Amino acid sequence: MKNIAIILASGTGSRLGNKTPKQFIKLNNKYIFEYSLKTFNNHINIDEIVIVCHPEYIEFIKDYLRNSEYTKVKRIIAGGNTRQESVSNGVFSISHEEGNVLIHDSARPFVTTDMISRVVEELSIYNAVSTVMPATDTIFEINESSYVTKIPTRKDLRIVQTPQGFNLNTIRKAHLMAQKDNQNLATDDCSLILYYNLSEIKTVEGDDLCFKITTNKDLIFAESLLNNSSILNS
Ligand code: CTP
Ligand code: MG
Repeated sequence: MKNIAIILASGTGSRLGNKTPKQFIKLNNKYIFEYSLKTFNNHINIDEIVIVCHPEYIEFIKDYLRNSEYTKVKRIIAGGNTRQESVSNGVFSISHEEGNVLIHDSARPFVTTDMISRVVEELSIYNAVSTVMPATDTIFEINESSYVTKIPTRKDLRIVQTPQGFNLNTIRKAHLMAQKDNQNLATDDCSLILYYNLSEIKTVEGDDLCFKITTNKDLIFAESLLNNSSILNS
């Protein structure tokens, strides 16, 4: 079974509010998308990589990666208006009949080799796997009027990270079913697997450092981590 990584880089970064989409901002002389690209490219179990990006950036990435060390990148394709549409474009660009896909947010530069290994290992047993971290804060569910409607027990809650891994045909099926239902707002892919009851979803440990750069505070934090390499290498 081939393991194919899909790196999502088609968002606009509206919450960060920078003119340049966050994955194309440079941190210590490297674009944010390049950090996770490098970790996937260097992973022994990853065979191919698909990058999904905004149509305006396709030529830029192609030029940038030409003759680069990232030899596993097989395709750079256009994303869609939502994360779900971008994933769908990535999944259906893969021509193999069988395989596994690992879907990753390029806005999470500090994904670790061990996280990828844990996902790949469980994909030999399960059709859907997600990296997660324990919730450290209590989490409220609220309604449109801001009233609390539910307070799930904290010890049962997990914060969802990427990569998430799937059997290729299971994730294809999930996206086809969602397209038929005109659903395109899922913020992660396990939501579709759960909604259509297509597989058990196994969770594996993520990493504290695999946070998603969403706001300016995250960007400053990422920068300070890079300047304190003992934390990233520990
Ligand atoms: N993403 C994507 N295509 C989209 C939307 C998001 O490929 N249409 C990707 C982003 O590039 C990011 C990941 O999905 O790596 C997680 O999304 P998020 O953090 O929400 O990024 P943005 O959508 O870019 O940010 P915002 O929601 O603040 O606009
Ligand atoms: Mg978004």
